Amino acid sequence: MARIVGGIATSHVPMIGSAIARGLQNEPFWKPFFDAYKPVHEWLEAVRPDVAVLIYNDHGLNFFLDKMPTFAVGAAAQYYNGDEGWGLPVVPPFPGYPELSWHVAESVMADEFDITTCQEMLVDHAFTIPMALLWPGEGSRAIRTVPITVNHVQYPLPSPARCYKFGQAIGRAIESFDDDLRVVVMGTGGLSHQLDGKRAGFINKPFDLMCLDKIVGDVEAITRLSTLDLVRQAGAQGVEFQTWLVMRGALTGEVVKKHSSYRVPISNTAAAVIVLENKYPALAEIA
Ligand code: DHB
Ligand code: FE
Repeated sequence: MARIVGGIATSHVPMIGSAIARGLQNEPFWKPFFDAYKPVHEWLEAVRPDVAVLIYNDHGLNFFLDKMPTFAVGAAAQYYNGDEGWGLPVVPPFPGYPELSWHVAESVMADEFDITTCQEMLVDHAFTIPMALLWPGEGSRAIRTVPITVNHVQYPLPSPARCYKFGQAIGRAIESFDDDLRVVVMGTGGLSHQLDGKRAGFINKPFDLMCLDKIVGDVEAITRLSTLDLVRQAGAQGVEFQTWLVMRGALTGEVVKKHSSYRVPISNTAAAVIVLENKYPALAEIA
């Protein structure tokens, strides 16, 4: 049986990828930011996941405004990156796990989530940067991945409550997969930011801190918000916090916060990371 060891949510700001590519992790501006990932690495060493199910929002590399699925599940053997601008280097492909992808697709479909399946899927900075932050260097290619996207670009967007329920369906899907696997679920994006329009540069620290707190044990306080509430409070791009709600929905056990960090700003964004362990007795049975 597959078991969900926990969830990690992190920002995915392109400037972080550019700092990694230029080896700036120990520069004074960047050191506190990258140091906040050391406890995440320690937790990953302890729980040793085999698979990362990574929920993120594509920013126009794989999907564009002409065709935009609300929820899409990658079902490829490899996921290639591509040139999306931002001055980021194109990174080598990431190994997939088609059997688990198809199982998740079938299970969430049976749970009334009519997802799009993608046997080819380019992964953008919202996938590649969190992978590089969590598993620096070659480590990010030693773990198999199932990418799942949530539309945050073309309205209408799914609601916070719907994203949370989608996560619950993903959790049920993972836990009904027969192989003995340790799975980490990731959500990437946020926290508050708005890159364009009249509110460009908008950051809402009180709202971010509320989300970081409530996502642990009172997630309904956030899922009660409408999509437009979230846009107002988090900014037009901060709405990608929905990926955190999908991740949180997948955690079915007792959820224990292991680590969190919040830094303002990284580029135009309030950058944050959180580690939530998913405790259930059966976990001990998987050696
Ligand atoms: C920035 C943040 C994002 O989440 C993103 O996808 C692109 C840019 C930024 O703060 O610059
Ligand atoms: Fe983004």
